[in-house]
Amino acid sequence: MAEPTIDHRGPEFAKLTHELLNDLKQIFKTSGTVVIYPSSGTGAWEASLVNTLSPGDKVLMFETGYFATLWRNMAVKLGLDVDFVPGDWRQGVDPAMVEEKLIEDKKQNIKAVMIVHNETSTGVTSRVNEARKAMDRAGHPALLMVDTISSLGSINYRHDEWRVDVTIGCSQKGLMLPPGLGLNAISDKALKASKSARLPKSYWDWEPMINDNKSGFFPYTPSTNLLYGLRESLSMLFGEGLENVFARHLRLAEATRRAVKTWGLEILCMTPEEYSNSLTAVLMPNGYNADKLREIILKKFNMSLGTGLGKLKGKIFRIGHLGDFNELMLAGTLCGIEMGLVLSNVPFSKGGVTEAIDYLSAHQ
Ligand SMILES: Cc1ncc(COP(=O)(O)O)c(C=O)c1O
Repeated sequence: MAEPTIDHRGPEFAKLTHELLNDLKQIFKTSGTVVIYPSSGTGAWEASLVNTLSPGDKVLMFETGYFATLWRNMAVKLGLDVDFVPGDWRQGVDPAMVEEKLIEDKKQNIKAVMIVHNETSTGVTSRVNEARKAMDRAGHPALLMVDTISSLGSINYRHDEWRVDVTIGCSQKGLMLPPGLGLNAISDKALKASKSARLPKSYWDWEPMINDNKSGFFPYTPSTNLLYGLRESLSMLFGEGLENVFARHLRLAEATRRAVKTWGLEILCMTPEEYSNSLTAVLMPNGYNADKLREIILKKFNMSLGTGLGKLKGKIFRIGHLGDFNELMLAGTLCGIEMGLVLSNVPFSKGGVTEAIDYLSAHQ
């Protein structure tokens, strides 16, 4: 990424664009269209909505956590009519609820079902495949849009097989890059919907993006140096093999969960089949503030744990275990937490680190 920025209207750049758009398809597991914005993930969210929907359209969303709530807020600001199914931030989207809501919608007013695959605020992974099956059982034609911001390239995800219409991703999580690239993977059905969608759009408009991408260019200045980084991160992921990357994340996540359970602390996610392999959110015992623990660990060991977002502030801390991450990095992370728990006088049982490394040694 430190290489000089090349002319984004020249032949060398066109080659890079073609390569990246093609290779990204393997990450989304799609043969459809992929676009890359110079943006954070929030931009890619907005792109998914403004390209497919019209003012007043009804959409179905689920309160799985902080990011699902932010996406809902965006949809409301853009003038969509959101049915936001309440949740306790400890569980993923309930496929039975998807089915029930869609069966109730006799007039098929719901234009899109929107799901955050991996809730970064809670460490809960929704079962997108099950939600898809629920939509099929209901025989409902709504679009399916999925935020994979903290699952893409870390947790099994299949855009085509699960017939997702728009998948939202970005650079700074499983793709191991700095922030600044927003991604959409787009089905033919979503492209078709975009022809009649009337929400105002300009910067996020798929049409000029897709047209210019055909010859390897962008309708405006791309994040050239981040694209160099993307070329490298894709080659790292392909070098390891995507299925091996998923297996590594599962192994490291499982070791983390064993450590947390040994400490006698509670994992926020209530359903084991929804445990996230990108991160683990841990509840503090009553009367103990997670941010105090985080502060001590940051100060003493220069390690920054994720904070509790929104209504989870002070109640949880989050252990990230995604991206370019291995056994020794995890061992260091867990040691930092175990020492931090001692230093902050949080009641817990020692031995989480030992449990995790025993598991990791037995699963190589
Ligand atoms: C699941 C999820 N969705 C959306 C976002 C928003 O992305 P950004 O902060 O890059 O705009 C985030 C950010 O962490 C996220 O974790």
